[in-house]
Amino acid sequence: MLRRLHHEQPETFAYLPANHAWAEAQIAKYPENRQASAVIPLLWRAQEQEGWLSRPAIEHVAAMLGMANIRVLEVATFYFMFQLQPVGSVAHVQVCGTLSCMICGAEDLVAKCKEMIAQNPHEVSADGKFSWEEVECLGACTNAPMVQIGKDYYEDLTSERFVEILGELAAGRVPVPGPQNGRYAAEPLSGLTALQDHADGRPALNASAALAVRIGDTVKRIDGTEVPLLAPWRDRGAHRDRTASAVPQAFASAEAGATQTRETVKPEADMAKAEAAAPKVDVETAPAKAKPVAVAEVKSSADATVQTKTSDVAATKDNASDAGGSKSQSASLSQQGKAVQDSLPDSAAAEGHVAPELLKAARGGAADDLKRISGVGPKLEDVLNEMGFWHFSQVAEWGAGEIAWVDSRLKFKGRIVRDDWVAQAKVLAAEV
Ligand code: FES
Repeated sequence: MLRRLHHEQPETFAYLPANHAWAEAQIAKYPENRQASAVIPLLWRAQEQEGWLSRPAIEHVAAMLGMANIRVLEVATFYFMFQLQPVGSVAHVQVCGTLSCMICGAEDLVAKCKEMIAQNPHEVSADGKFSWEEVECLGACTNAPMVQIGKDYYEDLTSERFVEILGELAAGRVPVPGPQNGRYAAEPLSGLTALQDHADGRPALNASAALAVRIGDTVKRIDGTEVPLLAPWRDRGAHRDRTASAVPQAFASAEAGATQTRETVKPEADMAKAEAAAPKVDVETAPAKAKPVAVAEVKSSADATVQTKTSDVAATKDNASDAGGSKSQSASLSQQGKAVQDSLPDSAAAEGHVAPELLKAARGGAADDLKRISGVGPKLEDVLNEMGFWHFSQVAEWGAGEIAWVDSRLKFKGRIVRDDWVAQAKVLAAEV
């Protein structure tokens, strides 16, 4: 298939603020001069935001990564998961047209797309809600015929069920992804022939469908705040603290949702039930609740506060500038941290923020390599240093209040708990 840029392009592209912060955090994962490795996540997030990739979006990503435009264009045109033309405002449907699906009825699904959406692939429906295309094998051949709608698979389809799904989406509901004929996963249609006792008490949905329901972004446009960016695989790492308190709340509730039995959530249950099992984030209020405080803002606020304090605080600050690493320095800078805390709005204090120990410079002039903490890249390390953190031992001391204090000053919320910096820092502090 010929994949080229759409003939009509918007003037500009910009990530929404939260998506921009997310993109910067992705870039920070990679070593210096390896930022191009973030090209697919950044393109994907641009598409999650806009629905498709415009030329300005591709050029914006190229500029962020220091890549030539043509290199990013090559990536965008290679993978058919990237849409190069406007798509339906509700959903873009990708119908698998390869062998298994074709044998099992894909032609009927394509016929319904032509009848209900638009005559031609990549043509937006008259009401603007849907678009469709035929794609190559999506790897769910056992459950043919199938379609991908947004990010998720709807399998074992009949044309009648496919029409119902389109109707539900048009009405603003998102049907539960996965097999649509009562099949649990990819077992024989006639039922299990082995391990039959495993069917008792298993979760209501297979793992893929459960994850799709839990995340809830099947056809959602992403503004950077609504989808908890879980990294459950990191939870298996050697440095993880497996205590319940160390498990991120969103992940904990997600795991709780996953243990529901087939009796509690039927596959054919309406989305209200399925959505009730998923963690909720109020898109309207979440950004306001977690309003970021820019590091520079905090720093200048802290400085201003310290300068207006009485002479003993001024003397403390002078001592601190010496960077000698003495106990008195730590104590005085903790006082500075207290001053920073005092300068915070009441709401921040009410949320249980506790100012951690802050240092003006590394003890003995030798900072720890904070980038050894998984989730901390070069940029984030700079931010932490600016805030007054130079050593693993400082991070290892953080409790819930200190984590809340630091988290409120980072652009990208939640990563301290999600990547479990404290547990990692404890291990690293013991090594140095
Ligand atoms: Fe359709 Fe493989 S043939 S998913």
